[in-house]
Amino acid sequence: MRAIIINHYGSREQLKLAEVPVPVVGPLDVLIEVHAAGVNPVDWKIREGRLRHRIDYPLPLILGWDAAGVVKEVGRQVTQFHPGDPVFTRPATERNGAYAEYVVVDESLVAPKPGNITFVEAASVPLAALTAWEGLVEHGKLRSGQRVLIHAGAGGVGVHAIQLAKNLGAWVVTTTSAGNVNFVKDLGADEVIDYQTENFALRIRDLDLVFDLLGGSVQENSFRVLKPGGRLVSIVQPPSAELIEEHPVEISYFFLQPDGKKLIRLGKWIEQGKLRPVVGRVFPLSSVQEAHALSESGHARGKIVLAVK
Ligand SMILES: NC(=O)c1ccc[n+]([C@@H]2O[C@H](COP(=O)([O-])OP(=O)(O)OC[C@H]3O[C@@H](n4cnc5c(N)ncnc54)[C@H](OP(=O)(O)O)[C@@H]3O)[C@@H](O)[C@H]2O)c1
Repeated sequence: MRAIIINHYGSREQLKLAEVPVPVVGPLDVLIEVHAAGVNPVDWKIREGRLRHRIDYPLPLILGWDAAGVVKEVGRQVTQFHPGDPVFTRPATERNGAYAEYVVVDESLVAPKPGNITFVEAASVPLAALTAWEGLVEHGKLRSGQRVLIHAGAGGVGVHAIQLAKNLGAWVVTTTSAGNVNFVKDLGADEVIDYQTENFALRIRDLDLVFDLLGGSVQENSFRVLKPGGRLVSIVQPPSAELIEEHPVEISYFFLQPDGKKLIRLGKWIEQGKLRPVVGRVFPLSSVQEAHALSESGHARGKIVLAVK
């Protein structure tokens, strides 16, 4: 099959189109013919070797941990899926990804593709939407009527987080550059702060939750806008011990745990029109280096997707 592989960690030039064997299907695996694969910042972070302290992959490695496609074959113990089923998934980080014509995924990570969206749209959802769900609901304990600041609302996780938070009945303020203000308002943001001209920490206060998608000084300043007993949830870095000591707030830092059952629930929200995929750019598989360059810029709007089939 055709796949994008890396033989060495490093720059975008390491991404090579190659012919590799179709993966072997284990008893609990679903073999998916990939129609589209999502691109996420974790892809180029892994490509650069930045996550080697967590997982040291045997090389060559296929990147890409978001996929939508059609089930081609199932393992003998698989009960939920059959050849021909349209599905979407956030494959396991520990295995090869989906920048390829086929990917194998444990059936517990797979969900039926919502019928009202395309494969490209479906490939844009799993990783970012599951992260938004885990951040807001499981770690952030967000409830109706609460006030939440979602940083980087125009990015992959942000576009899902804004929509989920509004569906949960929260009041949402988000940060973005001027060119994306109307874009995030259309997704449901109640208030938008242009981070290039205004310091968010001087405009808002007494929030229940901050969802930190940026880290660094943005995370530091976020402590100032929380009410006592509020929560800061980060997906980028844990706050320093000093900040935790100084502020009477709850802290979470987590790495997404993919889960097909949660994806099934998100898929239902998509079918009910409560959540819509937001695809910013689509590239052919052969333009993967360009797709990574856009993601690495830190200014992609919505999600980036590779069209594979
Ligand atoms: N721990 C986990 O499990 C997990 C899961 C998913 C993602 N992540 C991490 O979370 C981060 C965000 O992921 P993502 O997929 O949302 O990234 P992304 O799609 O690349 O985010 C790009 C967005 O960030 C916005 N942005 C950049 N600088 C900003 C600033 N100073 N203030 C406000 N917005 C700013 C940009 O908006 P403008 O163009 O308007 O500036 C752009 O729309 C990444 O570091 C990723 O690796 C972690």
